[in-house]
Amino acid sequence: MSEQTTPAAQPRVATQQVLGQAGRRGPLRYGERVQVTDSKGRKHTFVLDPGGYFQSQRGSFYHRDVVGRDEGTVITTESGHELLLLRPLLADYVLSMPRGAQVVYTKDAGQIIAFADIFPGARVLEAGVGSGALTMSLLSAIGEGGHLLSIERRHDFAAIAASNVDAWFGRHHPAWELRTGDFADVVATHVAEASVDRVVLDMLAPWENVDAAARALVPGGVFLAYVATVPQLSRTVEALRQSRRFTEPESWESAVRNWHVDGLAVRPDHRMVAHTGFLISARRLAADSAPLTRKRPPTRGAYDDAGYWTIEDVGERTSTDRKVRRVLRDCRAKQPEDATPVQPGLPEPQEPEHE
Ligand SMILES: C[S@@+](CC[C@H](N)C(=O)[O-])C[C@H]1O[C@@H](n2cnc3c(N)ncnc32)[C@H](O)[C@@H]1O
Repeated sequence: MSEQTTPAAQPRVATQQVLGQAGRRGPLRYGERVQVTDSKGRKHTFVLDPGGYFQSQRGSFYHRDVVGRDEGTVITTESGHELLLLRPLLADYVLSMPRGAQVVYTKDAGQIIAFADIFPGARVLEAGVGSGALTMSLLSAIGEGGHLLSIERRHDFAAIAASNVDAWFGRHHPAWELRTGDFADVVATHVAEASVDRVVLDMLAPWENVDAAARALVPGGVFLAYVATVPQLSRTVEALRQSRRFTEPESWESAVRNWHVDGLAVRPDHRMVAHTGFLISARRLAADSAPLTRKRPPTRGAYDDAGYWTIEDVGERTSTDRKVRRVLRDCRAKQPEDATPVQPGLPEPQEPEHE
């Protein structure tokens, strides 16, 4: 498959008046992302451009020939193949967008939104931002009346996320503030005590940030962490208990099994994504309260604080620096005019004054 656009290779995404999917109703327009699905289920996603030409093994067309058509249109190409045209859903977009870090997939984002009880108007703290997949679900749930402060310690990942999120909403989301730095440092400098309704952590070591999250959360606020491995799960739960500022944590695994449904052949699919992550949630206690007394005394912890974990230790996949630089260059080229600024989480270091 090749997707050609002329004269500009990377059309900039036009700034949308109305945010997100609500601004992309009606017939297909230039500047919008469209998803083409062939009869084998293969999907190609690209932005409609006045000079654009779509080409694949299963047929080709000029973008101008589909602009003005309704979503859900099936066209038959000159080669006799059928192609379905739709605007991508957020779940599709997350799979097609450029990535620096591993993303939270929609099945997990759905659980995070529901179990962290993210509501319209909520004040939410999120880290790390990675490629911005979860950020988009959080922003959709809080709406323009909420506030999301997203913190990412890698500047290049933050910039990729800004580009992905701006492209999805069609412009800078007014409820979004994006800052670089370490979660605990940024919270200490930018977040008032007991000013946040929800904290959502998707990072290597959430247990290191339990104190910062407790400081930021309102009494009754929800802490939710998403982790990939059992040691991360266990260490985060023990840190929540040790802090004595949260209710007893709840932990569960997020697994979805697709089903094959065809006549009487109704059964689970032979293949599935067996594991993505565990979720851990707890509620912030009031400042003058301690957790309910546990019936059984806690089991002795198996961890000390000496070890330093790397993403390799937990087998997390990440891109090479070279790939991240390439992704970032492409992302920057197509940002809208009012691109989300990536702001420093901490004051910039001052140059020493020379006598
Ligand atoms: C798995 S990725 C997050 C993916 C993201 N939720 C998404 O859906 O695209 C984890 C990110 O956390 C960042 N990170 C890890 N520890 C951090 C910390 N203490 N403060 C801020 N960011 C952190 C990493 O740089 C990485 O980008």
